[in-house]
Amino acid sequence: MSIHLEEVCLTYQIDTPFKTEALHNITCTIPEGEITGVIGPTGSGKTTFLQLLNGLLKPTSGQVWVDGVPTSRLKGKDLILLRNKVGLVFQSPEEQLFEHTVYDDIAFGLRNRRLPEKEIAASVRWAMELVGLPYDELKHRSPHELSGGQKRRVALAGTLAMRPKYLLLDEPGAGLDPQSRHRLLGVIRYLVRHYNTTVVLVSHHLEDVTATCDRLVILNRGRLFMEGRTREMMARREEILAAGLELPFLNELVWKLKECRPELDPALITLEEVADEIERVFGAKYFTR
Ligand SMILES: Nc1ncnc2c1ncn2[C@@H]1O[C@H](COP(=O)(O)OP(=O)(O)OP(=O)(O)O)[C@@H](O)[C@H]1O
Ligand SMILES: [Mg+2]
Repeated sequence: MSIHLEEVCLTYQIDTPFKTEALHNITCTIPEGEITGVIGPTGSGKTTFLQLLNGLLKPTSGQVWVDGVPTSRLKGKDLILLRNKVGLVFQSPEEQLFEHTVYDDIAFGLRNRRLPEKEIAASVRWAMELVGLPYDELKHRSPHELSGGQKRRVALAGTLAMRPKYLLLDEPGAGLDPQSRHRLLGVIRYLVRHYNTTVVLVSHHLEDVTATCDRLVILNRGRLFMEGRTREMMARREEILAAGLELPFLNELVWKLKECRPELDPALITLEEVADEIERVFGAKYFTR
């Protein structure tokens, strides 16, 4: 199963002078069990795209199908079930945190499911430990008194505690130090490997996501500009630049080397792959590893 968008358009404030077409004619599929990166410059429609996937927004025209069910027809309880299945972590954690304690915030969705408190406590602890928040130290603290990075983790834990089949993350790395960002990407990979979670990761930097995402969807001014396997996308430099994005430093380096050795394959995503390709093309004598 998967999430599929068919000719989706989304226009904000449609009957007003402030009418904005945020997404235009988007057709694409989010395959199950993979990590898809949604990348684009500021204002390209990434948040709008994500909010369409869990029914927070409904298409102005076109259709979004989640596991074969069109979201536009869902109401009330069915819409809540959809949001349980497709968990969204907002771009800014303040939009998501509203309880008095970290525990209550993370437990909120589970309580709506009317689960026994013992089960809720176990899930809250599991989610907090997964994102690196010490349970005993922070459970009674107010989420509003935490640092920006800690708030982000509480918001993420609240969504993870619900064990969504699809996990949507809107710029999850923003405001995190490199180590925390590393940890976050580790959590994402863990969820995919152990729970077969399908992840959609929004970012405006390719640098942040190429090593993590299996596929990329690139948006530009509300249109689907290009999509494909991450590795193959690294070989499409001109198009990526035309989308208003930059290639990761590592890939720029490969393209620079390619100027003198055109046979260098640019479809690479990890440091190891780049080192192997340089060794293949330039010969082992240039390298001591
Ligand atoms: N509630 C709204 N009402 C009117 N226009 C909106 C609304 N939300 C977003 N827009 C417009 O829709 C377009 C896409 O916005 P969106 O937030 O999806 O972009 P984004 O790619 O997530 O940007 P960023 O990188 O800044 O988060 C922008 O032109 C924005 O101004
Ligand atoms: Mg956004």
